[in-house]
Amino acid sequence: MKTILITGGAGFIGSNFIEYFLEKYEDYFILNLDKLTYAGDLNNTKEFSENKNYKFVKGDVANKELVNFLFKEYKIEGVIHFAAESHVDNSINGPEIFVETNISGTLNLLEAAKLHWLDESFNAKTGFENARFHHISTDEVYGSLGKEGFFTEETPYAPNNPYSASKASSDFLVRSFINTYNLNAVITNCSNNFGPKQHDEKLIPTVIRKCLLGEPIPIYGAGKNIRDWLFVEDHCKAIDVVFHKSKKGKTYNIGGGSEKTNIDLCVEICKTLDSLKPKLGGKPYKEQISFVKDRAGHDLRYAINSEKIERELSWETESSFEDSLMKTVKWYVKKYS
Ligand SMILES: NC(=O)c1ccc[n+]([C@@H]2O[C@H](COP(=O)([O-])OP(=O)(O)OC[C@H]3O[C@@H](n4cnc5c(N)ncnc54)[C@H](O)[C@@H]3O)[C@@H](O)[C@H]2O)c1
Repeated sequence: MKTILITGGAGFIGSNFIEYFLEKYEDYFILNLDKLTYAGDLNNTKEFSENKNYKFVKGDVANKELVNFLFKEYKIEGVIHFAAESHVDNSINGPEIFVETNISGTLNLLEAAKLHWLDESFNAKTGFENARFHHISTDEVYGSLGKEGFFTEETPYAPNNPYSASKASSDFLVRSFINTYNLNAVITNCSNNFGPKQHDEKLIPTVIRKCLLGEPIPIYGAGKNIRDWLFVEDHCKAIDVVFHKSKKGKTYNIGGGSEKTNIDLCVEICKTLDSLKPKLGGKPYKEQISFVKDRAGHDLRYAINSEKIERELSWETESSFEDSLMKTVKWYVKKYS
């Protein structure tokens, strides 16, 4: 039995990942370290909280004493690091916590991995030869694209807001631990995820909630910003493949291959709801769309080229965008009804 530390497992992607991982593997014990900020919710863990191969620890990734205790006590042999402050709007209003969690927290975990897994010459200690640190990052580190082109793993970093700047900094720290200390780490940069268990503040849950409440659906600017939408289950499978099969020190971009303007996505959700839960009086939900003042520094377009992970690790998205959106909308209709 191998014990791996998963951080941020009460959040959106982390909780989906733990559910997927525990179902697939019986020879891992998962320790979920989560501070339960406003974005963390133990309801997200209820499908697996009683699993014998799972334990929850409430705590901060930036807490040195706690993290070192967990590494020692549980003989941690792998880390998958999801925990982060993740909402761009919050980073614009208060960047400090983004630096504390996303940068200092990541450094703290890297230091612990170095201390417990490597000897003084930076060779793996006996029993930790395969211990791996998987850092979950974002395509936002690359900045914004124009109408053409895609982010590849070679695209220079150009973060444009405090959130993406803090994630870019954490990626650089991971990179530096690979090159300086020979740490067995990998980085994945993914596009916008969607699926069950995402926090209410994010775009897709907001659109669905506002529709059902009969309230205006707020869309930034003219709704022309483009995101590449990745279904969270496809993302979980990609993380699994990279964690187990990637060579040390690699980075992979993970995208859904589904570019949508915010307004088109919103209209698609409205149409899905028109068929699933028609409004009294039969009016279309899209009539509730209301354009609001644009976000400061709003990146125009993100789009990912996933060829590297497809070619080297044979990963590909398994679900169509339409099917995944239907699954997602059904999940939130149940939650909000
Ligand atoms: N959601 C996306 O579309 C997306 C896209 C690209 C990358 N990412 C990255 O994926 C990761 C997970 O994103 P998410 O959407 O699940 O985020 P989320 O906000 O839903 O969850 C974050 C989790 O981390 C926990 N957390 C926050 N600060 C912590 C701390 N100091 N110590 C311990 N736990 C802490 C929270 O309580 C929460 O449970 C993040 O690193 C994010 O940058 C997300």
